Amino acid sequence: METGLTHLHNLLRYAIVIFLIINVVKSFLGWFGKKEYTAGDNKLSLFLFITAHLQLVIGLVLYFISDIVQGYKAMPMIDIMKDSVARFWVVEHMLSMIVGIVIITLGRIMAKKAKTDGAKFRRQAIYFTLAMVIIFAAIPWPWAVAGIARPWF
Ligand code: HEM
Repeated sequence: METGLTHLHNLLRYAIVIFLIINVVKSFLGWFGKKEYTAGDNKLSLFLFITAHLQLVIGLVLYFISDIVQGYKAMPMIDIMKDSVARFWVVEHMLSMIVGIVIITLGRIMAKKAKTDGAKFRRQAIYFTLAMVIIFAAIPWPWAVAGIARPWF
C-alpha cells in the first residue's frame, strides 16, 4: 500500500503545483485588470483546495507508514534536528506542507468573505503566492541533495 500511496502523493504534487500557478496568475490578472470574479474563478480555487486537502490526508497516512520516516523512529530528536536529511523528512516537509495548505484554506475563506471582486482577487493573489512559495520550497525535487531528492514520477 505504501508504494501506491507514495506514487499517488508524488503525482498529486503536479496537480497542486499547476492549480497554484493558474490560480496565482489569474488572481493577479483579475486584481490588476479589475476583472469580474466569476464562478469559474471560484471553481479553480475549489480544485486547488480539494487537491491540497487530499494530499494532506495521503501525506498524514504516509508519515506513519513510510519507510523513510519510520527509519528515523529510533533516532533522538536532537540528532534528527542536526541531520539535514532526517530533519527534512521528520519535520520540515510535513510542517511546511501543513502551513502551505492552511494558507490555501485561509486564502479561499478570505476571498469568499471579501465584498468586492477586486478584494477577492487580491486576497487570493497574496495567500496563494505565499502558499506556492512554501510548498514549492518543501517539495523533494530531483535536484535536491542526496537523501532528499525523489524521482519526477
Ligand atoms: C502540498 C502538499 C504536499 C506535496 C506537494 C508533497 C509532495 C511530496 C513528494 C513529491 C514526495 C516524494 C514522493 C516520492 O518519493 O515519489 C513526498 C513524499 C512524502 N511526503 Fe509529501 N507532500 C505534501 C504534503 C505532505 C504532508 C502534509 C505530509 C505529512 C503530514 C507529507 C508526508 C510525506 C512523506 C512521509 C513522504 C515520504 C514517502 C516515502 O517515500 O516513503 N507530505 N511528498
